[in-house]
Amino acid sequence: MTLNVLGISSSPRERSNSDLLLREALRGAESAGAATEYITLRDHEFGPCVACGACALTGRCRFDDAFQGIFEKMVAADRLIFATPVFFAAVCAQGKRLIDRCQCLWSRKYLLAEPLFPDGPRDRRALVIAVGGSRGRKVFDGIRLTIGYWFDSLEVTHFANLFVNRMDAAGDVVKHPRAMAEAYRLGAALADADRPVPKAPTDVELFEGF
Ligand SMILES: Cc1cc2nc3c(=O)[nH]c(=O)nc-3n(C[C@H](O)[C@H](O)[C@H](O)COP(=O)(O)O)c2cc1C
Repeated sequence: MTLNVLGISSSPRERSNSDLLLREALRGAESAGAATEYITLRDHEFGPCVACGACALTGRCRFDDAFQGIFEKMVAADRLIFATPVFFAAVCAQGKRLIDRCQCLWSRKYLLAEPLFPDGPRDRRALVIAVGGSRGRKVFDGIRLTIGYWFDSLEVTHFANLFVNRMDAAGDVVKHPRAMAEAYRLGAALADADRPVPKAPTDVELFEGF
């Protein structure tokens, strides 16, 4: 069975470091036989969650904008790769907007007890790629926490994190073969259906002047 891997890039800038790592991870997934799809939130206009409460009654977001198409792809995917820059020690606003719109999934699961997959849980796994400019290691803590709650609602197992810091100028990551190689390797591993489901995410943290 061919696994379907969806890559979501959330950085607002061109030649973004997290985006370049995401593309490398998708190449890795393809090398393992997966079918891949790349989307960048730069191409999709949708608003933030406005806490209207409609999804608490229906389990669905009532706003008919570009979020709906991305949502369908996220639900259909066997594997997800989410890439974000670190902005003030958090997921960037563009990525957070996508995450917040998934409140409909939280409502579905915790308020309505309506399963996302009525035929039973699926083996879905996700890789997170985050890039920061500073030397601080704690800047990834907030991302880790937010992603944990998001993946719980999305019903996807957190497979691994690739965290890279001291990377500031756009495109600089291509000068760091180790970061690119890790992205490729993790993408391939994510798409390896024979690997057991991980109990906890593997952390690959490139914090030094590599
Ligand atoms: C608004 C803003 C906030 C940022 N906040 C942080 C931060 O808290 N910690 C950090 O390490 N880097 C921070 N950075 C630096 C970016 O994470 C860094 O430039 C990264 O390479 C951007 O990734 P991208 O190229 O994928 O967009 C910030 C950059 C911007 C524009």
